[in-house]
Amino acid sequence: MGQEFSNRVVFITGAAHGQGRAVALAFAREGAWVAGFDIAKRLSYPAYEFGTPSELQRLKDEVESLGSKCLVFEGDVRDDAAIQAAVSETIRTFGKIDVLFNNAGICAYGYAHELTEEEWDAMIDINLKGAWLVARRIIPQMIKQKSGVIINNSSIAGLRGMNRLSHYAASKWGLVGLTKSWAIELAPHNIRVVSIHPTGVNTPMNDGLAALEGATPQEIAERSAGNLLPVPWIEPEDVADAVLFLASDRAKYVTGSQFVLDAGLLTR
Ligand SMILES: NC(=O)c1ccc[n+]([C@@H]2O[C@H](COP(=O)([O-])OP(=O)(O)OC[C@H]3O[C@@H](n4cnc5c(N)ncnc54)[C@H](O)[C@@H]3O)[C@@H](O)[C@H]2O)c1
Repeated sequence: MGQEFSNRVVFITGAAHGQGRAVALAFAREGAWVAGFDIAKRLSYPAYEFGTPSELQRLKDEVESLGSKCLVFEGDVRDDAAIQAAVSETIRTFGKIDVLFNNAGICAYGYAHELTEEEWDAMIDINLKGAWLVARRIIPQMIKQKSGVIINNSSIAGLRGMNRLSHYAASKWGLVGLTKSWAIELAPHNIRVVSIHPTGVNTPMNDGLAALEGATPQEIAERSAGNLLPVPWIEPEDVADAVLFLASDRAKYVTGSQFVLDAGLLTR
């Protein structure tokens, strides 16, 4: 086990599986204490697998088996009471929060003229409003500490247009606006804010979207045909590498910016 994040506390949304889980384990391997927050139940939209209570429990067990500490919470990033309870318990138990990884999110295809209002609202409320709801309960603690790092998980869809993903892209571009504005507001308090922009990542989301399209993940990746480097997608552990770098003191002057890990896609 490394030590880069020993005595640091990391709060991660969407931690039960996919990128959130990989990031949680990577932080734990570097000595961080982890608070994982996840809805841990299916929603009707999008109709793919979400995290589960047993995945959250497995994350806790694995973090603890690495010699670190872990709290897990079942909650929706749209539910302020659940967020407040989780943040309060994290601060009560671990004493502080050094890093927030705003990662919970959903994705679904649909032409703009075919989306329902419910689908639009779910996308924006989870991906964009949810990031703000969580951050606003953690920022006061970071201000008190005079330090902190907030990393918002956007997407390549936060830097370009995407076919049949306008509501997703709108939510992910919105995260760039939050990132840049929070960076300005919070720099005087020594709090950094960055967004990350991965290309397709090999997670249950990717598998779920492919299944909804009646295609394989490989076919979906070929459809967006973008990565310059010869990989169909990247792994959640690749995202974890980037997040740990950005959260570390090695990135101490990185704030307000967009960290692209797109295997070259946006260069096209
Ligand atoms: N998979 C990709 O190709 C890809 C690429 C770029 C960016 N992203 C973004 O990365 C983030 C993580 O994606 P992933 O690929 O790990 O997805 P995933 O679906 O595999 O995992 C997302 C996790 O978030 C949880 N979650 C969903 N809605 C929630 C809510 N309302 N409240 C709390 N938890 C909730 C789910 O239960 C799940 O455990 C998302 O914001 C996604 O938009 C994904």
